[in-house]
Amino acid sequence: MKRNFACIFFFCILASQTIIAMESGVKQPAKYVDKTERMSWWTAGRFGLFIHWGLYSMPARHEWVKSREKMTDSIYDRYMEYFNPDLYNPREWARLAKNAGFKYVVFTTKHHDGFCMWDTKYSDYKITHTPYRKDVLAPLVEAFRQEGLRIGFYYSLIDWHHPDFTIDRNHPLMPQDPTKLEKLNQKRDMAKYREYMKKQLTELLTEYGQIDELFLDYTYDTGEYGKNKNDWDSEGIVKLVRNLQPQIIINNRLGLSEDSQGWDYITPEQFMPHEWPTIQNQRVPWETCQTFSGSWGYNRDEENWKSTHQLIVMLAETVSKGGNLLLNVGPTARGVFDERAIERLKGLSEWMYFHHDAIYECTAAPSEYECPDNCMLTYNPKTRRLYIHVLEWPFKSLYLKGYRGKIKYVQLLNDHSELKFRTDTERGSHTTENTEADDVIITLPTKRPNVELPVIEVILN
Ligand code: GLC
Repeated sequence: MKRNFACIFFFCILASQTIIAMESGVKQPAKYVDKTERMSWWTAGRFGLFIHWGLYSMPARHEWVKSREKMTDSIYDRYMEYFNPDLYNPREWARLAKNAGFKYVVFTTKHHDGFCMWDTKYSDYKITHTPYRKDVLAPLVEAFRQEGLRIGFYYSLIDWHHPDFTIDRNHPLMPQDPTKLEKLNQKRDMAKYREYMKKQLTELLTEYGQIDELFLDYTYDTGEYGKNKNDWDSEGIVKLVRNLQPQIIINNRLGLSEDSQGWDYITPEQFMPHEWPTIQNQRVPWETCQTFSGSWGYNRDEENWKSTHQLIVMLAETVSKGGNLLLNVGPTARGVFDERAIERLKGLSEWMYFHHDAIYECTAAPSEYECPDNCMLTYNPKTRRLYIHVLEWPFKSLYLKGYRGKIKYVQLLNDHSELKFRTDTERGSHTTENTEADDVIITLPTKRPNVELPVIEVILN
């Protein structure tokens, strides 16, 4: 009897707690997709293509040209009058991207200049109102999907065209004397701009099928005359986006860094983190976005292009630290990738053709595998294979500290040719190596394999 009573009592407590949880909204929405699940394609793919394309491809001297040169609308909008990418063929872009090994694409639907690269219902400032007249987004999405790439949209929170977007320190119309700002902004209404953004995001996330990644850009709330998460209604945007596309992954530029639902990955831009980035001592998903030469938009005169070798090292290094690389191309105003970009994409294709196993599904190696000198390590946890990316080809011997008993088989990745390995026990007049008993030595061919970055594949025990 006593026992029954206890059971009923316990059941009542449980039921009331469930009701409280439901009422307070703690319960996840029905559509909620778990973060690890949502991110699995992205974590496996590791390599994305960023495309910055818009009116700024015409001045061809930086995508911020309107702000940097303080252009008024009438000056900047001359580009709209002449924009006509007559050679645009997204199938060709998608083919190049697929061959170079990219697994997803992130396309600038609207950059800071506010110009829309799709046929939006909510603005006339768009691609279909240029001499080109046609939409470019729908064919791009279709072409990349056909090549098996996932689709990401970049959407600028900043908008230097919208009449309700208040003038701030980045804006082309920012006055020298900031006391004039208030008057200039009197008729501008960010509430209306927020509505505009939400309508556009809804359009982008309902009319193009499944969108896998959303790159919102960006919040600048430090210092004066910036914009913060309230200017965008960042929380409202996240809710809207997750509701429309529950599987989507969102970057961290909404100013919601404290709120783990507010972003899925962080975005170090144009630099290489020293190690896997952490927040409160936890490793976080990260995607570094990098350019070929500095600008994101097509820049005719920029000369500091990274070499193919540098780009491949950058990709391997990113994965060796558990991250993704989003590598950018800025197509020309005629709608093609310029020759410098094509040359690098070809170089990437050649390397990826033989070495993609060292990138896809890979991450940082567990700490028990020490990285040999002048090398980087990536690791596939599913196949338990370790990849040694050899930056400087050593003479004959590659020393692996503490690897004794850990290795089953070793081969070069580019041709699957066997590499012999041994623990060094011999010591004679010709060999005086100071190796420890648990070290392993891989014997390398004297001649470095003829690839941009040689990789040794180690099959672990
Ligand atoms: C920055 C720049 C922008 C570029 C972006 C890429 O936020 O403002 O021009 O599109 O980075 O991450």
